[in-house]
Amino acid sequence: MNEKMNSRKISDAQREISSQLQHIVERYQQNIYRREPAQYAIQELDRVEKKLSPNQKLILDSCCGVGESSFHLAQQFPDSLVLGVDKSASRLSRKNEFKRNLPENLIYIKGNIIDFWQLLDNPKWHSRMQKICLFYPNPYPKSTDLKKRWHAHPVSKHLFRIPCAIELRTNWRIYFEEFAKVSWLYGRKPDQKSLIDENFPISPFEKKYSLSGHELFSCSILSK
Ligand SMILES: C[S@@+](CC[C@H](N)C(=O)[O-])C[C@H]1O[C@@H](n2cnc3c(N)ncnc32)[C@H](O)[C@@H]1O
Repeated sequence: MNEKMNSRKISDAQREISSQLQHIVERYQQNIYRREPAQYAIQELDRVEKKLSPNQKLILDSCCGVGESSFHLAQQFPDSLVLGVDKSASRLSRKNEFKRNLPENLIYIKGNIIDFWQLLDNPKWHSRMQKICLFYPNPYPKSTDLKKRWHAHPVSKHLFRIPCAIELRTNWRIYFEEFAKVSWLYGRKPDQKSLIDENFPISPFEKKYSLSGHELFSCSILSK
């Protein structure tokens, strides 16, 4: 890529991974997360279940933005069904070039990813899940926002209990290291890498950060 971009790197007072992670995860493990998943998400997953053929697996592209990574995943894994979920209707409905010809094995849903992680943490779904992707989530770099990062959010207990592979990508080293630490705390084995094929950015944020010269990180958690 010859283009250049100029996105600012994350700078914040938090220079090391949070010392509170172990305590937070232990509390989540001891307590039930009492939030009820929303009705629309139950209905949407019923629709997904009907579309899945008997041996087909599901790949969830969490917080997929405009859905470009979901599109690439659907092309890369033509035998799987790819579900891209984002809470932003305007991102999902943006008229991107790749949306002119979407593959059959791709569904987008506008929704809160918390509902989907909660609902997919169910034996009925566990065996159908191939992979959960989480590419460039909002980092919430202020240490006071720790619990807004997905690995320190109460829903993390459900996310890490879904036994399929999970891949996080981020441009913030602290998020990557915290995510890996929390995976260990939930009994999952992470494989931490510095990324990424800059000739093939999987998503718009990966492209933006790559063109801005940021170091990119991937934390891949093996399936159980
Ligand atoms: C930084 S963007 C990354 C988008 C995309 N993954 C990419 O790499 O280009 C973060 C995305 O997370 C979405 N998001 C944040 N919280 C969410 C939630 N609770 N449920 C679903 N999507 C959410 C936002 O709408 C936004 O599109």
